[in-house]
Amino acid sequence: MATRHFLTLLDLSPTELNNLITRAIALKAELANGGHNDPFKNKVLGMVFEKSSTRTRVSFEAGMAQFGGHAMFLSPRDTQLGRGEPIEDSARVLSSMTDIIMIRTFGHEIIERFAQNSKVPVINALTDDYHPCQLLADMQTFTEHRGSIQGKTVTWIGDGNNMCQSYINAARQFDFELRIACPEGFDPNSDLIKANKDRVSIVRDPVAAAKDSHLLVTDVWASMGQEDQQAERIKLFTGYQLNDQLLSVAASDALYMHCLPAHRGEEISAELMDHPDTVIWDEAENRLHAQKALMELLLTQ
Ligand code: CP
Ligand code: NVA
Repeated sequence: MATRHFLTLLDLSPTELNNLITRAIALKAELANGGHNDPFKNKVLGMVFEKSSTRTRVSFEAGMAQFGGHAMFLSPRDTQLGRGEPIEDSARVLSSMTDIIMIRTFGHEIIERFAQNSKVPVINALTDDYHPCQLLADMQTFTEHRGSIQGKTVTWIGDGNNMCQSYINAARQFDFELRIACPEGFDPNSDLIKANKDRVSIVRDPVAAAKDSHLLVTDVWASMGQEDQQAERIKLFTGYQLNDQLLSVAASDALYMHCLPAHRGEEISAELMDHPDTVIWDEAENRLHAQKALMELLLTQ
């Protein structure tokens, strides 16, 4: 059977994704009740990070340890990747010594080229275009607090970035309506919107977009690699903040999420970030449980 990868949410079927969320919730309970039985003993996860990370690194590394396996952190600074060894050669070599690999990098085509040359499953741990692992955690969090997201309305506020584009794929796979409120010039990929126009729409006005919504989501205005645009973007994104005003027009039981790291007072208000009822910390923790379910699925194919 061909090696399966997880480069976007479209690499798993809707049924597989829903089963994965159920399994993540079960693994979370199992961990709380004493842990697992070393199912990945002697398995090795290679972790290639070309961008910074807190949650992704810790969740993959902790998850592999809790499963009895080993995780290996590889940065371009200390490997030949940083000295220009072709990605195809790196994929052949790394996949000959590990059982599964995750990569965080810049262009999405880099991870596609890596996967084409890998003998073992490759997981997208964030590219400029997609962050599918975060969506697994977000979907798990919504399910835990509110049940199935199928048929609900989700509003994205802010930049049409890798997280926003992953929400477009999630709308398709988990079957919900997605309204995207982003300033002009910061839309997600137009082909992606067109391909999902039955479920996804651009609504420029954040208040109109948030009306009666069941989930409001945002992310930083300048992503990794866009640090030089930070000051300019703060001006252009004024009015696109996730705050009490937006939450007040949403459904009465609406949740709000942020993948973190966050900038209080920019894309999200300090009040919402620090609210005692926020599920944002569950969302971060669920990276651990959802990715364990993902590794289990890919390693037991
Ligand atoms: N949300 C997320 O991917 O966080 P890190 O950048 O800290 O991994
Ligand atoms: N859009 C952000 C997500 C960080 C987890 C970035 O790419 O930097």
